[in-house]
Amino acid sequence: MLHDNLNINSDSHLAIGGVDSVELAREYGTPLYVLDEDVIRERCRTYVAEIKKHFGEDSKPLFASKALCFKGIYPIIESEGLCVDAVSPGEIYTALAAGFPAEKIFFHGTNKTDSDIEYGVKNGVGYFIIDNFNELESLNRIAGEQGVIQKALLRLTCGLDPHTLEAINTGRVDSQFGVPIDTGQADEFVKAAMECANIRIEGFHSHAGSQIFESDSFNLQAEILVSYAAKARDEFGLEINTLNIGGGFGVRYTEKDPAPEIGARIEEIATHLKAACEKNGVSINRVFMEPGRSIVAEAGTTLYETGGVKEVRGYRNYVTVDGGMTDNPRFALYGAEYTVVNASRASEPADYECTVAGRCCESGDRIAEWVKIAKPERGDIIAVLSTGAYNYSMSSNYNRIPKPAIVMVSGGKTRLAVKRQSFEDMMRNEL
Ligand SMILES: Cc1ncc(COP(=O)(O)O)c(C=O)c1O
Repeated sequence: MLHDNLNINSDSHLAIGGVDSVELAREYGTPLYVLDEDVIRERCRTYVAEIKKHFGEDSKPLFASKALCFKGIYPIIESEGLCVDAVSPGEIYTALAAGFPAEKIFFHGTNKTDSDIEYGVKNGVGYFIIDNFNELESLNRIAGEQGVIQKALLRLTCGLDPHTLEAINTGRVDSQFGVPIDTGQADEFVKAAMECANIRIEGFHSHAGSQIFESDSFNLQAEILVSYAAKARDEFGLEINTLNIGGGFGVRYTEKDPAPEIGARIEEIATHLKAACEKNGVSINRVFMEPGRSIVAEAGTTLYETGGVKEVRGYRNYVTVDGGMTDNPRFALYGAEYTVVNASRASEPADYECTVAGRCCESGDRIAEWVKIAKPERGDIIAVLSTGAYNYSMSSNYNRIPKPAIVMVSGGKTRLAVKRQSFEDMMRNEL
């Protein structure tokens, strides 16, 4: 099995954290998001320990809310000692509603409106990560009006291409995120920020991209940010001690993806960062990282019920399931690959090649193409692995399909964390 928490039980069913997935589907209905809380906690602990060990006591991971945002995730994140990054007032609202401390929230976002900024300042978020000149100006004004000196980091782009999927690549020069170093605009950004009496700039932020397996882009990014910190100090008199190097560690969606080596990669980044600090005479005593996917993706499995098996002679076989692009739009968005298992027949040979299609009236509604699973029959439970990130948070009600429930598994026990949407829920705001 792709992940250690998955195995095949004596009924030949897929078990998640020791719990029979077919029983789960029966009890809670399908489609169903299943999250293994023990896996999430273990990932959080690894990040907290490795970041402290290699970057120092004050350094921390932030959980990127965008990967998975619902009330129940925040107590887990807080109890494991992480901060969070949020990209909208909606994510901040959810974190606060769950009792997450405002001062541990880092407010991201490429277009924060004035009312977003007011919301963040009024609620006391710890840091703004300022994306652009307009935001800088508005934040300075609004913080002044509220009598606050707002702590912030400046978001810079380092001009790296981590050879990841084009659609989720945010670190290059030509990007709508942050201000580029290469074009000289970061210099103007720093100078403008230093003029802002109501903002305290403590450091720089940069995010290289997502689903990155090689270390080079992170190492280079650390070096570029440190040498830019030296430039900002020498040329503009800005002293910073904090870097936030974003998210992006890759996860295993299929057997082709390597198993993540979080500790080794953090150590490597730290080695490059320390060498760059020495070379440039810069002191960075706090490093933040923003893993999202790598904390929750592998903990998630989506369960569907098979509706039909359609064999288009001479072309391909379609297995249709009772969910699809509404609960997992990642194939439709950027052809993301997944591992699919017939959870009802997990010990039978996976020799039936098929395309797993969803229930929407949309030819792009697919979960996976040309995958091999044990041949299903109508009613079999199909499991799609590594769906903990960017599935629930990207879900929609297209075709008026209600969003699935989320069930947490921990220590062999289950609990409902998010109720399945009803038809009434979908119509709630319609007058
Ligand atoms: C600024 C920032 N931080 C963190 C992340 C999380 O990335 P990942 O989930 O790939 O770790 C993203 C994702 O796009 C991002 O844009």
